Amino acid sequence: MIQVSKLGKSYSRDRAVLSDISFTLAKGEFAYVTGTSGSGKSTLLRLLYGAERPNNGTISINGVSVNRCSSFALAQLRSKLGLVFQDFKLLPERNIFENIALPLEIQGKGQTEISKRVQQSLHYVGLEQKMRTLPQQLSAGEQQRVAIARALVVDPVVLLADEPTGNIDPEHMAGILELFKGANARGTTILMATHDYSILRRSPRRTLHLVNGQLDNDISLESILQTERAHVGN
Ligand SMILES: Nc1ncnc2c1ncn2[C@@H]1O[C@H](COP(=O)(O)OP(=O)(O)OP(=O)(O)O)[C@@H](O)[C@H]1O
Ligand SMILES: [Mg+2]
Repeated sequence: MIQVSKLGKSYSRDRAVLSDISFTLAKGEFAYVTGTSGSGKSTLLRLLYGAERPNNGTISINGVSVNRCSSFALAQLRSKLGLVFQDFKLLPERNIFENIALPLEIQGKGQTEISKRVQQSLHYVGLEQKMRTLPQQLSAGEQQRVAIARALVVDPVVLLADEPTGNIDPEHMAGILELFKGANARGTTILMATHDYSILRRSPRRTLHLVNGQLDNDISLESILQTERAHVGN
């Protein structure tokens, strides 16, 4: 489903943000991307959905060669992806209902189906009461839940989620993780960048760990947790 080969990205000559990244994610897999702040998690996801071009290497998602295809093919692929951005990217002039409806509109769905699916998504993230509210009137955690609802409303082939729980309080955390697991059980392949090592502890799964822009393929979950403990000093 996702094939990445020898991927490299640098913004300046003297330092590569990512180098020689290769991995494959099979259809239906659910994996994490971890690494300390600045290790390149967001950059990797941006390369995957074609927001940035790599300096080296190739990416294929759902059979589409992301950095070698036409802009039409990329747009078609993106309409099948669920994207949760680290900074949410909600449209400020659209209310919550309209934000979540957007990807369904792009897919050309009818009003009845849009309404049904958006209501269901709002229910899943617990924001039915806020559907006529504008994004800036919501808290960061609420905005993040809207971003998650918008990404999942299309039943995406692949979900690329960048720190999707960064602002989620413990009360909503379990529900959000259940949403991801539910999407995964319905066939969505998931790659989720996270700093939140409590998630790894709670739901251990395959983890792509970035260290100095490279993948540490052999690292165990225990070592990742130890690295994190050392990093936060406890
Ligand atoms: N547009 C850019 N121009 C120059 N450098 C950039 C750009 N985007 C990212 N970088 C650099 O690339 C490195 C990796 O950034 P990235 O945002 O991918 O890290 P991250 O792992 O997502 O961090 P965080 O956990 O804080 O979200 C950082 O050193 C950052 O300064
Ligand atoms: Mg990031």
